[in-house]
Amino acid sequence: MADRYANFANSGLGRAMVKRLGLPDPPRLRRYRPGDPVAPGPVLLGAAPGGRLAEPVGKLLASAGVQVTETDAANTRYAALVFDATGIADSTGLRALFDFFHPYARSLNVSGRVIVLGTPPEATAGPKEATAQRSLEGLTRSIGKEFGRGVTAQLVYVAPGGEQAVESTLRFLLSGRSAYVSGQVIRVGAGTVTTPADWDKPLTGKLALVTGAARGIGASIAGILARDGAEVIALDVPGAGDALADVANQARGRALQLDLTAADAPERLAGYLAAGPHGGVDIVVHNAGITRDKTIFKMDESRWDSVIGVNLTAPERVNDLLLERGLIKPGGRIVGVASIAGIAGNRGQTNYATSKAGVIGLVQSTAPALLDKDITINAVAPGFIETAMTAKMPLGLREAGRRLNSMSQGGLPVDVAETIAWFASPGSSTITGNVVRVCGQSLLGA
Ligand SMILES: NC(=O)c1ccc[n+]([C@@H]2O[C@H](COP(=O)([O-])OP(=O)(O)OC[C@H]3O[C@@H](n4cnc5c(N)ncnc54)[C@H](O)[C@@H]3O)[C@@H](O)[C@H]2O)c1
Repeated sequence: MADRYANFANSGLGRAMVKRLGLPDPPRLRRYRPGDPVAPGPVLLGAAPGGRLAEPVGKLLASAGVQVTETDAANTRYAALVFDATGIADSTGLRALFDFFHPYARSLNVSGRVIVLGTPPEATAGPKEATAQRSLEGLTRSIGKEFGRGVTAQLVYVAPGGEQAVESTLRFLLSGRSAYVSGQVIRVGAGTVTTPADWDKPLTGKLALVTGAARGIGASIAGILARDGAEVIALDVPGAGDALADVANQARGRALQLDLTAADAPERLAGYLAAGPHGGVDIVVHNAGITRDKTIFKMDESRWDSVIGVNLTAPERVNDLLLERGLIKPGGRIVGVASIAGIAGNRGQTNYATSKAGVIGLVQSTAPALLDKDITINAVAPGFIETAMTAKMPLGLREAGRRLNSMSQGGLPVDVAETIAWFASPGSSTITGNVVRVCGQSLLGA
């Protein structure tokens, strides 16, 4: 459904009215188009004294074609402000954040980027440093709420030894791929990663399975993974028929009709993957999901069971069997689709929020066990995304969902898909156990 308010607010007359009346002002977000540069303008790179990341990050960005500057030139408009905060060892050192951001707060372009780099508190030398590093979260989340105009702000904790592994994340965050991701804390682990031969086709040679791919977010995931070079298997219920075939055709992939709640679904899927030319799968995206909303008092058992069954038990069963049979290859990626309802809870969605909090639990509990198999597992948690599901919401709730976030608008399926493609990249092999919201920094679950 079209966001008529956003269209109006971006018209000549609308812009004047929005300004005069102090109404929400949804900017047109910068989204990625193939061929776009990593950053659409100069990037100012600052650091607290003693930081360990400014130097490798500066080199890495420069070799990615980014115009990196470390000293300010008067009146420059920046595409991004990147600050290495790893040198901050105690609370008195936090002043370096003010000194960097205060003078440049107004120098970012529309859809500009703020990225703060820190050390994971648990990897610091002691409580004082851990406290200071933990403080960074308050700064970045507040900047995301303050700067407006489509500017996003994130905190990236880079484990010592993860300096080279941060490139896929910086590329994602600087580009229009992360248009609707803001206020997030991302953890990049230690290790070296395989740099894709072509950053525009990082998934070349990979086989990806996308569940619930016939429409909405799943269809977009299939399209974006195919754009990035993957071969795609688009899975949906047998009833999805033509829509599924269309998605598979557009992605130049294969369609697989399967009800994931059927007792033999994991077995049939495993058989299909084992028999295929790839002999397994590299990327598994558990996107299929349903809602059956009622307050718990009015809910019948079938609403409870079906939502838990599709959203949580099916991904668990599929993971268990594919992993047991070794069908997810080394270097593999599992991505769950949670929801901000699973973080904040939502009236009328006890079943759904339980299932989606469960998806987060699944990611966090499975990640450590997969480390030695060289398989990562992460989740996205979408907020209000413009799909058939949200178009059915009552007008008041729909408008609240659209406006109560730092972007003053809903996200698009492609925003979720781009985030999943970043998790799937070979360059993201040290990112595991993360849950990243794609919610424009929604006030729900903040
Ligand atoms: N739209 C949003 O704003 C939003 C917000 C948060 C989370 N999500 C999550 O994102 C995912 C996709 O959402 P959407 O809005 O695109 O939903 P959608 O209803 O448009 O698409 C879901 C797809 O999953 C398929 N599916 C359902 N049960 C299945 C089963 N048993 N086996 C195989 N396929 C099955 C459906 O046929 C459908 O094609 C879901 O997990 C949803 O919970 C969506």
